[in-house]
Amino acid sequence: MQKIAVKKIAVFTSGGDSPGMNAALRAVVRTANFYQIECYGVREGYNGLINDDFAKMGPRSVRNIINQGGTILKSARSLEFKTKEGRQKAYENCVKHGIDALVCIGGDGTFSGAKIFNEEFGIKVIGVPGTIDNDIFGTDNTIGYDTALNTAMEAIDKIRDTATSHSRVFFVEVMGRDAGFIALNSGIASGALDILIPEKKDSLEELFATFRKSGERGKTSSIVVVAEGEQLGGIYDIARATKTEFPDYDIRVAILGHIQRGGSPSCADRVLASRLGFGAVVGLMEGQNCVMAGMRSNKLVYTPIEEAIRKHNEIDKELLAISEILAI
Ligand code: F6P
Repeated sequence: MQKIAVKKIAVFTSGGDSPGMNAALRAVVRTANFYQIECYGVREGYNGLINDDFAKMGPRSVRNIINQGGTILKSARSLEFKTKEGRQKAYENCVKHGIDALVCIGGDGTFSGAKIFNEEFGIKVIGVPGTIDNDIFGTDNTIGYDTALNTAMEAIDKIRDTATSHSRVFFVEVMGRDAGFIALNSGIASGALDILIPEKKDSLEELFATFRKSGERGKTSSIVVVAEGEQLGGIYDIARATKTEFPDYDIRVAILGHIQRGGSPSCADRVLASRLGFGAVVGLMEGQNCVMAGMRSNKLVYTPIEEAIRKHNEIDKELLAISEILAI
C-alpha cells in the first residue's frame, strides 16, 4: 500500500449515536496505530473540535469496547459548528494539534458539517456511516442499522404476544423520521398487517381497507408498524381515526423510541464497523478526501460525501409488495 502524508488524524462520533460506533472507533484507532499514524479522539462530535476536547488514543484505549453500544467519545448535534465562528475555532484547534485529517463517524448531518469544513479550511475529511436509519447513499448498510432492526423486531414480537392474547390492534412506532428502512424490514420480519413509511404516500382509506380484509379472513389481532416520519399525520391520530372507523377494535399505541439506538451491536454491525473504520484510515493513506467509506456488495467503496448526502437509498419496491402479499 502506497503511504501518503497523513501523520496525525482525529476521530469523532457525531449526530444520533448508533450501536457499532465504538467498534468503528476501535478500528480507526488500531488501524492508525498499525500504520504508525498518530490518532486523537475528539469528545462530543463537533463540539469537541470547537472546545478543544482532544485526547490521544492508543490501541489499549479502545479495549473492551467492540461489544458496547453508544459511543465512548460521546456524541452531539452541534449548533455552534453550524456557524462560521464555530468552524473557525474548530479549525484553529485542528492546527494547534497538527491534525491532517478527520475521521467523522455519523450520519448525513455529520457529513454535511465535514463537507463544509473541508471546503472552507482544506482539512481532509473521511466519513464513516453510523446511523440506525440506513439512509446514507454509498453503503448497503449503515453501522447500527442491523442492531436497531433486531431490537425493533424483538420488541414487536413481544407486543404481538399481548396483542394476540387480548385480540388487540397495536400501532407500533419505530424510528426513522425521514426513512422507512427500519419500519419496512422490522415490519416484514414481525409479520405486520401494514407498514407506514415516509417514502410511500398511504391513505387512511387504504389502511381501513386492509383492516377490513384482514377481518374478513378471520384475523383477530394485528400489528401496524409506523415509521416516525409517516405521512398520515402522527400515530395517535391514525389510532384515533381507526377507532372511529372500527369502534369495536381494542386499540393500543406503543412507541419504541430510543431503545432502538442502544444495546450491544450485532455481529453484522461489529464486522461492518471494523471494515469501515479500517477502510477510512486506509482511504486517507491512499489520498482519499471528502469521501465516505461504505460497503457495497461486500466490497469497500468510497463515495464522495456530497453524493452520500444528496442521493438516497431507495426503498426496495419488491419488499414493499412482499410485505403486502404476506400480511393478510
Ligand atoms: O437519526 C437517527 C434517529 O434515531 C432517527 O431515527 C430519529 O428520528 C432521531 O435520530 C431522533 O433524534 P433525537 O435522539 O435527537 O431525538
